[in-house]
Amino acid sequence: MTKPNMSVEIAGVKWNNPVTTASGTFGFGKEYAEYFDLGELGAVCLKSLSAVPRLGNPSPRIAETNYGILNSVGLQNPGAEYFLENELEEIRKYDTKIIANICGSTVEDYIAVTKILQDKVDMLELNISCPNVKEGGMAFGTNKDMVYDITSRVKEAAKVPLIVKLSPNVTDIAEIAASAESGGADALSLINTLLGMRIDIKTRRPILKNNMGGLSGPAVKPVAVRMVYQVRQAVKLPIIGMGGISTSDDAIEFMMAGANAVAVGTAGFVDPYAWVNVKNGIEQFLIENNISDVNDIVGTVELN
Ligand code: SIN
Repeated sequence: MTKPNMSVEIAGVKWNNPVTTASGTFGFGKEYAEYFDLGELGAVCLKSLSAVPRLGNPSPRIAETNYGILNSVGLQNPGAEYFLENELEEIRKYDTKIIANICGSTVEDYIAVTKILQDKVDMLELNISCPNVKEGGMAFGTNKDMVYDITSRVKEAAKVPLIVKLSPNVTDIAEIAASAESGGADALSLINTLLGMRIDIKTRRPILKNNMGGLSGPAVKPVAVRMVYQVRQAVKLPIIGMGGISTSDDAIEFMMAGANAVAVGTAGFVDPYAWVNVKNGIEQFLIENNISDVNDIVGTVELN
C-alpha cells in the first residue's frame, strides 16, 4: 500500500498530520527540538500566554499520582511580547503549525493577548479551562453563558482560527461545547485537566501549596474519550482530543470517538519521543488496516 494520507484540516488550517502537543507540556518547543524535528508534528500548541507576565502559583505545584500528575502551575509565563521577541522565530523554522494558548483573568485580558499574538501564529487556543487560578480559566469555562460571551468577544478580535479549550469539570460537556460553537469557535479542544487533590498523611496537608490541582495522564483518558464522543454528537466543529494519550492506540481511540486531531501531553514527560511515536503508530495502524486516509477513522465508533 502507498503511504496513507496523514494530513488533516482544522478550521481551514492544514496540518501535515493529526498530532499536536497539549499546552503546558511542551514549553515553547525549544527543549524538545533537541530530541526531534518539530516538523514531525502537525502543530505545536505552546504554554499559555497572557498579555502581561505571570509568576504562577507557589511551589510545590506538581504532585505525582498512580496514573498521572497533578499540577497547579497557575499559568506562569513570560508574557506575549516576550514570546514574540524571544521564542517565536526559533519555532517558525519548523514545518509545523503554531498554536498559541491564551489566558487572562478578565475578558479584556484575553482580548489584549489576542491582539498581541494574532496573525503572528497560525491558530489561537482560548484557555477557559485552567483549574489553577481564581480568576479567568475554569471560572469562564464551566458556565455556558460565560463561554458564549468570552468566545464571541475574543472571536471578534481574532484574525486567525479560534480553538476553545474545554474543561472536564462540568456536568454537561455537550452544553458547554454548543455554547462555544454558538459563540463562534472555529474548533474545540478537550479535555483540560480534572480538578484533584492529594494529601501528605504525615503532615495532614495537601501536597500542592495551592491545595488542589489539575490531574492529567493515563488516569483521565476514559473520561476524555467519553467527553470527546459526547461533544462529537453535539457540535459540527473540528475537535482536538486529548487527555492521557500515551500511545498511538490511545490516539486512535480518540479519533474513533470523534476527534479530528489529537494532542499528547503528560506522556512527553516520561518519553520525549512520545509525540513522534504516536504519530508514527497512527500511520502504521492505517497501513496495517489498509486505510488510505487518517480522516476515515474519525467518528467511526459503533455503539453496542
Ligand atoms: C497551569 O498553568 O496551571 C496549567 C494550565 C492549564 O491547566 O490550562
